[in-house]
Amino acid sequence: MVDITVRDEDIMSYAGPALVVAVPAGDAALNEAAREVDDRLDGLISNLRTAGDIKGKLGETTVLHTLGKLPAARVIVVGAGDPAKLTAAGVRRMAANAARTARRVGLSSFATTIYRREDLPAMTDAQLLAEGTLLGLYRFDDYRKSDPEAGDVREMAVLPRALERAAVEEGVRRGREIAAGVTLARDLINEPPNVLTPAELARRAQAMAAEHNISCEVFDRERMGELGMNAILSVAAGSDEPPAFIILRYGTSREGAPGLCLVGKGITFDSGGISIKPAQDMHRMKGDMGGAAAVIGAMRALAGLGVAGAVTAIVPTTENLLGGRAMTPGDIVKAMNGVSIEIINTDAEGRLVLADALSYAVREGFAPLVDVATLTGAANVALGPFYTAVFATDDGTAASVLDAAHTAGEKMWRMPLDDAFEELIKSDAADIKNSAGRSGGAVTAAMFLRHFVDDKPWAHLDIAPTSWSDKDEGEQTKGGSGAAVRTLVALAEAMAAR
Ligand code: BES
Ligand code: MN
Ligand code: ZN
Repeated sequence: MVDITVRDEDIMSYAGPALVVAVPAGDAALNEAAREVDDRLDGLISNLRTAGDIKGKLGETTVLHTLGKLPAARVIVVGAGDPAKLTAAGVRRMAANAARTARRVGLSSFATTIYRREDLPAMTDAQLLAEGTLLGLYRFDDYRKSDPEAGDVREMAVLPRALERAAVEEGVRRGREIAAGVTLARDLINEPPNVLTPAELARRAQAMAAEHNISCEVFDRERMGELGMNAILSVAAGSDEPPAFIILRYGTSREGAPGLCLVGKGITFDSGGISIKPAQDMHRMKGDMGGAAAVIGAMRALAGLGVAGAVTAIVPTTENLLGGRAMTPGDIVKAMNGVSIEIINTDAEGRLVLADALSYAVREGFAPLVDVATLTGAANVALGPFYTAVFATDDGTAASVLDAAHTAGEKMWRMPLDDAFEELIKSDAADIKNSAGRSGGAVTAAMFLRHFVDDKPWAHLDIAPTSWSDKDEGEQTKGGSGAAVRTLVALAEAMAAR
């Protein structure tokens, strides 16, 4: 990861390879840093703006050579768009694009000013700058021969100028911890399924926990059997890789109450099982542990930030494959809480593993419960690729998740949980069935899960639309996105502040 340092250096004395300044769109006034640089460059930035070469469009970058007029060799101008409309997401995007431009040019270090939004604390803008930089520069290339043109940016110096240094340092620290959680989640998603088996996911969770003052317990197949976790075991039956049930415990609560529980779907590969998926894009199903990655990444970030309160993460993990012992359509299994499930479609396996994990969380007394899962293609049909679908038992829980998502800059949209859908998941042979067909597919999946949360306040985040990104854009990079990590962190922080 890039090293971000905060330096008491003036932009007029910084003598490195490049200095980043922000420029707004249209003819809005330049900020102080850009004005100083523009003066030293004899009005070059102003001229390029007038000529239309620099439009100041959000995230657009232009590289200028200073020709000795400034100690810095280059100035990277990054567009801020309409300054009145600059959002947190916009600041992240500017930082990500500026950093990627520095990398494209081949720089191993650069310095940046902070893109300030006047009404907000400097700490926030410093945090967004760090998050955008670290996430935008993310790459997963563990399995490639090193690429000669892909030099890495190793250091970014933040020049706080007149801003309070302590606030900037704190913002950078927060951004770094949050980005580390998102980065861990992306890495887990991007790992190939022959490497990231359920056992390996458990090992990685353990290794993370050992480094961050988190306790980690892993139940094996036998223990899961003793606990009556037949739903997850029926998914695991088709695979030779042993399943695991991972529990991460962080912090302590004031009243000793069990506290917030995060549950993440951990299917390390989803072939669909006997109800096998089409071959087209099936390799993407290595990312079917995106929920697990999100909760593990969030725990990493929470511990790094030192958030108060108790948070537990539960990850039921297995492959969903085909084999002589695989579950078959028509099977009936009894989940840990006693609810019987008719298997209609073995590809609706996520709700099966979550059924036992939620039952376990209820039994342990956790509240609220928040599960995160790449659960349904139907969520993507309903909302498109930009929004996570949120379901909640009550308005209060929904509001706390949506507020957290807003704080974190992640797009989420509430969907209905309504008794009217109950008839769609009725089974002829068992209490409920695991697949209700195409109509309202994201909702019926959530309705199914509701059978396992008893009367606990609960939210379900279907990240099937958002867990994977098809392109590099702003702080997003191709592949696993780490969706929901930042929201879970914001949620735990808001609960701790209550
Ligand atoms: N893991 C998939 C959902 C998914 C699809 C995630 C695309 C990411 C991208 C899930 O296990 C699944 O197969 N769901 C089925 C449910 C159906 C059989 C009721 C689906 O969405 O088709
Ligand atoms: Mn599936
Ligand atoms: Zn799945």
